[in-house]
Amino acid sequence: MRLFLLISLALGTLAMAANPAIKAIITNSGLKYGTLVGSEWLQERIMRAQIPDITGEISLSLLGIVQYTVSRITVTQVNLPLPEVVFSEGVGLQVDLRNLNVALKGKWNTRYYFIKDGGSFRLGLFNIDLSVLLQVSSDSQGRLSINSTRCSSRMGGMQLQFRGGTSWIWQLFVKAFERRIQSQVQKQICPVIELGIHGLEHRLATMNVTYQVGPSLLLDMPLMSSPVVKASDINLGFKGEFYNVHSRVEPPFVAGQFDLPEQSHLMLSLGVSEFSLNSAAFASKSAGQLQINITDKMIPQKFPIRLNTTSFGAFIPQLPKLFPDMQMLLQVYASDTPMVSFLPDNASVQLYGSAKAYAIKPDSSLAPLFRLDVSAKFSGKFFAMDAKLRGSIMLENLKLTLGASEVGRFQTQNLQATLTILVNMGVKKLNELLQVGIPIPAPKGMQWINTVLKVNKGFVAIGTDVTTTSVGDKEH
Ligand SMILES: *[C@@H]1O[C@H](CO)[C@@H](O)[C@H](O)[C@H]1NC(C)=O
Ligand SMILES: *[C@@H]1O[C@H](CO)[C@@H](O)[C@H](O)[C@H]1NC(C)=O
Ligand SMILES: *[C@@H]1O[C@H](CO)[C@@H](O)[C@H](O)[C@H]1NC(C)=O
Ligand SMILES: *[C@@H]1O[C@H](CO)[C@@H](O)[C@H](O)[C@H]1NC(C)=O
Ligand SMILES: *[C@@H]1O[C@H](CO)[C@@H](O)[C@H](O)[C@H]1NC(C)=O
Repeated sequence: MRLFLLISLALGTLAMAANPAIKAIITNSGLKYGTLVGSEWLQERIMRAQIPDITGEISLSLLGIVQYTVSRITVTQVNLPLPEVVFSEGVGLQVDLRNLNVALKGKWNTRYYFIKDGGSFRLGLFNIDLSVLLQVSSDSQGRLSINSTRCSSRMGGMQLQFRGGTSWIWQLFVKAFERRIQSQVQKQICPVIELGIHGLEHRLATMNVTYQVGPSLLLDMPLMSSPVVKASDINLGFKGEFYNVHSRVEPPFVAGQFDLPEQSHLMLSLGVSEFSLNSAAFASKSAGQLQINITDKMIPQKFPIRLNTTSFGAFIPQLPKLFPDMQMLLQVYASDTPMVSFLPDNASVQLYGSAKAYAIKPDSSLAPLFRLDVSAKFSGKFFAMDAKLRGSIMLENLKLTLGASEVGRFQTQNLQATLTILVNMGVKKLNELLQVGIPIPAPKGMQWINTVLKVNKGFVAIGTDVTTTSVGDKEH
């Protein structure tokens, strides 16, 4: 038991010390844009804010005590100027708001001995200045977390009007105690803001850090450490590892360290390491995704080589004699994890595959024929234009060997030459696509603009500006 604990502690520390595989930097210009989008969202949130009822007592000295309840408070109008939001080094965000005006309405009820009274009220708060320091960090699950560490507020003026019941008494009361009421209301501003921030933090604390990608992959995206806030930007490091939905098996390779350069003229820089892509390949392979059965039906009609023992006689002379004119089945699968590697301006991928060939006998049973092992390496240059991935790839080398045979030995040179021609035809098709450009996926509701992409040692860096495509959409 103690040994188990020690081992899991050691593994735990190892896991904690792992390098982030996806990094993001949000710059000042990104923050400016975020503030713009965020304040539209905030304006709407304030309009729908739920303000709790207030109950209290007013002592009329010798006359006794009046109990009051203020309820059904709603915001009727808000004029939210664009806040000034800047990075606060080592802490998070400093938010300053000037000249906020808010109008509210609600119901009031009083109870004085056995006398009950009630009516409605309207409250206008003018020229509120607000300064909030937000601490940005991550929680134990790697979720983003915010906390308000300092809040101060000032209010320029206030107007309070009662209607119904003995409103005139309360109106007199307000007149007499205007300064005191105003200071009481002002004291409530920061607590209300803090309540709102706690609400937001509560939402963040329930967010998922694991996303399903396609039917068989999960992308694990917890923060590996607290965001690093500098005067000019915020740096986020995510785990960025893919897993198979059915089992969380670690691949036999680990994430390397990389430094993502900030591109200060762009809103956002993203770095994706080889490890992230290779973990996706490993998870796909272990989920049984990287395999396909090929039959003659799947081969285009015009194609001269058919998947049958007669046609394959051109490569394996003895085959038609052993299995005369039978259809064949090719079971193609990745024999090892495809590995992507990034070098400056050069991306390459190494593939290892095998193809098991069967003859389909007249009674539909399968007769194993042979297994071919193939390794192929591709490399390419990539760049981004108009938020599309462009570039060119080429086949570096392809090697085909006979892995096993139930039909005796045969030469593989011609098969290798034929496969090389076929692969090069595929490369040509892909290059045509890459010339037009393949859209770089963006999160839902967002669009990349001014995107630049550069392949570096160990990672690919994407710098981009962002625009939202769903401005005006109501979020619930
Ligand atoms: C938020 O900050 C307050 C004081 O500034 C602190 O007492 C509290 O523990 C913090 N909460 C979290 C979740 O960090
Ligand atoms: C979070 O993940 C769980 C489990 O994978 C899933 O059931 C839930 O719907 C997810 N929630 C959101 C908001 O995506
Ligand atoms: C391919 O065919 C073989 C033999 O019929 C079968 O066992 C295997 O499950 C098939 N694989 C796929 C991916 O369809
Ligand atoms: C096999 O392919 C040849 C063409 O190479 C064709 O003439 C023949 O009919 C095919 N046989 C079967 C069983 O599909
Ligand atoms: C990438 O680098 C490899 C090895 O250094 C080289 O063989 C290959 O030609 C390069 N590819 C491109 C597209 O420059």
